[in-house]
Amino acid sequence: MNILIIGSGGREHAFAWKIRQSAQCEELFVAPGNAGTDLIAKNISLDNENFDQVGRFVIDNNIGLVIVGPEAPLVGGIVDHFSLSDDLRSIPIIGPGQLGATLEGSKDFSKAFMVKHGIPTGTSQTFTKETLEDAYRHLESLEPPYVLKADGLAAGKGVIISNNLNEAKSELAQMLTENKFGEAGDKVVIEEYLDGIELSVFVITDGKNYQILPEAKDYKRIGENDEGPNTGGMGAVSPVHFAHPEFLKKVEEQVVIPTIDGLQKDGIPYKGFIFIGLMNKGGEPYVIEYNVRMGDPETQAVLPRVKSDLVDLFMATWNSQLDQFKLEIDSSYATTVVLVAGGYPDKYEKGNEISGLELEQADTIIFQAGTKQVDDKTLTNGGRVLAVTGLGNSMDSALEKTYKAASSISWKDMNYRHDIGQDLIRLENDPI
Ligand code: AMP
Ligand code: GLY
Repeated sequence: MNILIIGSGGREHAFAWKIRQSAQCEELFVAPGNAGTDLIAKNISLDNENFDQVGRFVIDNNIGLVIVGPEAPLVGGIVDHFSLSDDLRSIPIIGPGQLGATLEGSKDFSKAFMVKHGIPTGTSQTFTKETLEDAYRHLESLEPPYVLKADGLAAGKGVIISNNLNEAKSELAQMLTENKFGEAGDKVVIEEYLDGIELSVFVITDGKNYQILPEAKDYKRIGENDEGPNTGGMGAVSPVHFAHPEFLKKVEEQVVIPTIDGLQKDGIPYKGFIFIGLMNKGGEPYVIEYNVRMGDPETQAVLPRVKSDLVDLFMATWNSQLDQFKLEIDSSYATTVVLVAGGYPDKYEKGNEISGLELEQADTIIFQAGTKQVDDKTLTNGGRVLAVTGLGNSMDSALEKTYKAASSISWKDMNYRHDIGQDLIRLENDPI
């Protein structure tokens, strides 16, 4: 079958890498892809917000499966475009429709969904420009730290956590009255601060049945020891020791099942990933957020641990047969470090030549993200440039391979965190 992956990041390179291993995959296209996906698939330049153009490409190229990587086309309604078209309706596409995607597209919607279906989450209230004064009073009634969340999509930057009341008020005013995050900040959710350790849990559902993929921990801050501004993600590890069977059982019973039941009760069709951002607070799971796609860079640590054929998994999802799917997971550890352009997540250069990509090392995979091929050179073309994954039978051995491979790659001003996984190694003997 011919397969199309939509997106251009490390996550999409990881999807392409895994799908390539399926005997069912004939031609593989990535739109628009990057220099890495071009090595194993065919990059095509499509405007992923132009669903007519995507639909025409799918028909003209006899595509039998579409995987939507990022959230924007999902929130924009790409899946609804397919289901409303006579020509496209029968073509399997992985991702929720626009209503399901609102779980990520609106924090206010997702909070209301969690409350309605009894899913554990921090208490919250939503405010608008008109209720700014009430929002100030509300902040005054809370203890720091204050958590402010822009309602809409803000490229991972819409959450502000502040210890200072005046700063929180000023941030709130900037969001509600000065368009700090554009329309995404027209509503702001003020949420209880949850003190704990984070975990990313990945579920794939056909709307009724589900499979839980390996969990991961993401490293969001630019600096070591979780300092500095938030990024799209600087590294990931899987498995995560505190996600032991007892905790994962709580996650399944208190979060996963009520979420999927809630989708059904609310009449929200959903065939795709649900990425649940959780806080483990005193051994209890609390949902911080839903995403309606896989994580980046978590995918680069999760997929190398999935032994099952990904095309089979997607077809079982499309055919509502996930209850019969046998998901096989490798017990090895995967650790991923993201190599970023100097300056990221603020201003950074593009167009620097990357060296060391050709050096293949055992048990490591180099997933490309912000890269571009120009003649025989691979150039940086984004903030997060590469994601290097190492596999081993312990976290230490996976990290050793990851960092050995990372150290053989270079370009002008390359930067990466050297402490991925270290917090977990410190915590390992310290049950939560
Ligand atoms: P999000 O964009 O929702 O993933 O939030 C970004 C980051 O803010 C999360 O990864 C958490 O580290 C942090 N965060 C979000 N909500 C809370 C909360 N209620 N309490 C503590 N930290 C939070
Ligand atoms: N790594 C976090 C995300 O993909 O949203």
